[in-house]
Amino acid sequence: MTQVYSVAVVVGSLRKESYNRKVARALSELAPSSLALKIVEIGDLPMYNEDVEAEAAPQAWTRFRDDIRHSDAVLFVTPEYNRSIPGCLKNAIDVGSRPYGQSAWAGKPTAVVSVSPGAIGGFGANHAVRQALVFLDMPCMQMPEAYIGGAANLFDESGKLNDKTRPFLQAFIDKFASWVKLNRAV
Ligand SMILES: Cc1cc2nc3c(=O)[nH]c(=O)nc-3n(C[C@H](O)[C@H](O)[C@H](O)COP(=O)(O)O)c2cc1C
Repeated sequence: MTQVYSVAVVVGSLRKESYNRKVARALSELAPSSLALKIVEIGDLPMYNEDVEAEAAPQAWTRFRDDIRHSDAVLFVTPEYNRSIPGCLKNAIDVGSRPYGQSAWAGKPTAVVSVSPGAIGGFGANHAVRQALVFLDMPCMQMPEAYIGGAANLFDESGKLNDKTRPFLQAFIDKFASWVKLNRAV
């Protein structure tokens, strides 16, 4: 029987009509049967504060940490805000990384997708996530890089992904499936 790996998808936008969320959903539909993608919500996470941790971790932090811990891999899909990552995503990364020594992220294979209406495709955000992944000790798929620009034209009115982007996302998620398998085997 083929092993199915669970993938926690962390989307760095809280917007209802988020292009990043739409791309995350498209990746979920395109994923091979060896991957089960699920978006893990981050909008309800209180801002990380060590004093609060010392008293009692909010339930939303615990829920989020458990969601990440129980997944085999993590996929980040994020917009770029001011050439870096949105605060909600950085907060989620920080929440998942604590308490000290109990990071939920450690060792999980991962990859980063950035999506923007702009031409640069969120390059700055993509690499800001990658910078954190080093310290989080997450093996990150290097290639293919996924800087997806022109986000306003990715989907038609019925929500269908355009024919130019679909093969790229398909290749990306297929390669990610291999990356997850490789890294979960060690
Ligand atoms: C505070 C803020 C800063 C932004 N900075 C950038 C930026 O640096 N680069 C960029 O390509 N787009 C930037 N944008 C535009 C976002 O790419 C755009 O709002 C996009 O739709 C957000 O992703 P979403 O559709 O998934 O919510 C910024 C938007 C906001 C609200």
